[in-house]
Amino acid sequence: VVPFTARDQISSNFPRLYKQPANFPPGPWALPFVGNLFTVNFKKIHINLTQFSEKYGDVYTLRMGQTRIVVLNGYQTIKEALITQGESLSDRPIQPMIEDVNHNLGVISTNGHLWKQQRRFAIQTLKYFGVGKRSLESAVLDEFKFLSTHIAEYKGKPFNPHLITNNAVSNIICTLVFGHRFEYSNAKFQKLMSMFDQSLQIQGSIWGQLYNSFPVVMRLLPGPHQTVQKIWKEVIVFLRTEIEEHMKDWNSSDPRDYIDCYLSEIEKTKDDISGTFDVENLAMCTLDLFVAGSETTSTTLRWGFVYMSKYPEIQEKVQAEIDRVIGQSRQPTMADRSNLPYTDAVIHEVQRMGNIVPLSLPHITNKEVRLGRYVIPEGVTIIPNLTSVMLDKNEWKTPNTFNPGHFLNEKGHFEKRASFIPFSAGKRACLGENLARMELFLFFTSFMQTFSFAMPPGVKHAMDYNFGITLSPVSYEICATLRQ
Ligand code: HEM
Repeated sequence: VVPFTARDQISSNFPRLYKQPANFPPGPWALPFVGNLFTVNFKKIHINLTQFSEKYGDVYTLRMGQTRIVVLNGYQTIKEALITQGESLSDRPIQPMIEDVNHNLGVISTNGHLWKQQRRFAIQTLKYFGVGKRSLESAVLDEFKFLSTHIAEYKGKPFNPHLITNNAVSNIICTLVFGHRFEYSNAKFQKLMSMFDQSLQIQGSIWGQLYNSFPVVMRLLPGPHQTVQKIWKEVIVFLRTEIEEHMKDWNSSDPRDYIDCYLSEIEKTKDDISGTFDVENLAMCTLDLFVAGSETTSTTLRWGFVYMSKYPEIQEKVQAEIDRVIGQSRQPTMADRSNLPYTDAVIHEVQRMGNIVPLSLPHITNKEVRLGRYVIPEGVTIIPNLTSVMLDKNEWKTPNTFNPGHFLNEKGHFEKRASFIPFSAGKRACLGENLARMELFLFFTSFMQTFSFAMPPGVKHAMDYNFGITLSPVSYEICATLRQ
């Protein structure tokens, strides 16, 4: 008999103890106390978890320390859970490593009324500032001009695209949230970006899991997990400075960005007892948008460079389509998308194979859920294994091979696939999906219009990856040659 969830374990001095129901999902044998913590390889945990499903089925259980976790695999199972029974799975579990940073504020890891208000507000404000409108499109295209000028300076010589791509992509969410971008020469901002990466790597490693499983002990012990707390504190100081700057010249009738709109919302709801808008929540929502909106799209683009250099024939086909439809005399726009089916298919395939959020984010059941023949009680942590969907052999013709044909019909037209869910699905699905899809299309198409990518002579393709919440290509250098 063990507590089922992190919430049981941490939030109460007298944890609720469950007896495992007879029809609880099966899973691998777990050691006393540590459970399966040391039987999974955290560097390839998404592959491990997908392999377990071959033995234990699409719904199985793992034990991380004292917490039971149910892993969901395959498109049909995840769809049934996150969409059909979405309301029962719309909460997030408490993760001490994150809780120690955000104190259960913000949008990514909150629940209930607070989460609903913050999510709705974030979606509305992103829409207001132009997700899907020309103004934002122009911001992305202008950012690409800065980026391409910088990259062209390498004159086709090898360079590492990591930080510069992060900076450029991050500038889009910074424009929406802070109202301004950061120069690539800003050493402070570059340091912040690389600290992010470091933190995500540690959070996704065994250290993150140990911290979440044994928070009381881990808070006291030295180790990389302590770096995570230090990094986020520094990031929060940076965000608070941005908020304070906004407060100085905020004008409610002329909102410049997300922070200004949020300040207006605080003012508007200050007498509303059900209102959840205050400066603390603003700081944590800003943190969530900044983190989620920077690393993800930029990592996808870096996978794009890797795949294009590995498959030059696919790269040439994309370039030929862009040359035919857009040419070289103007920049791409979102209106071009429907005329670029092959390019669109390649972007989708980069996302499928790149699989950058391989285990989605954890959910928790807020009431008993029945999945097939299994019963999962309230309060159990759920991992939707998106890798099992991205590589599902029942859904994709060649699941492990880069193949834009997955998104094209016999006539060569782009074909949407229901099982393409890199942004997850249901109530908690990525709220930045529209923004990300716009950024990916405009940046990728602009890159292919302007440069050809190849690995430096004699260097093997960097297909290996690092796992740390996101799955990112190992650090690599690449040559970007101007096409004109
Ligand atoms: C959540 C993927 C870009 C903001 C998520 C989730 C995934 C995801 C898988 C978890 C959904 C779940 O729990 O079921 C991606 C991918 C991106 C991307 C693949 C880019 C290629 C962005 C951007 C933003 C963003 C640009 C910025 C606005 C968020 C937020 C959440 C989230 C705030 C939490 C939503 C909630 O808990 O209600 N994303 N994302 N994401 N994403 Fe994204």
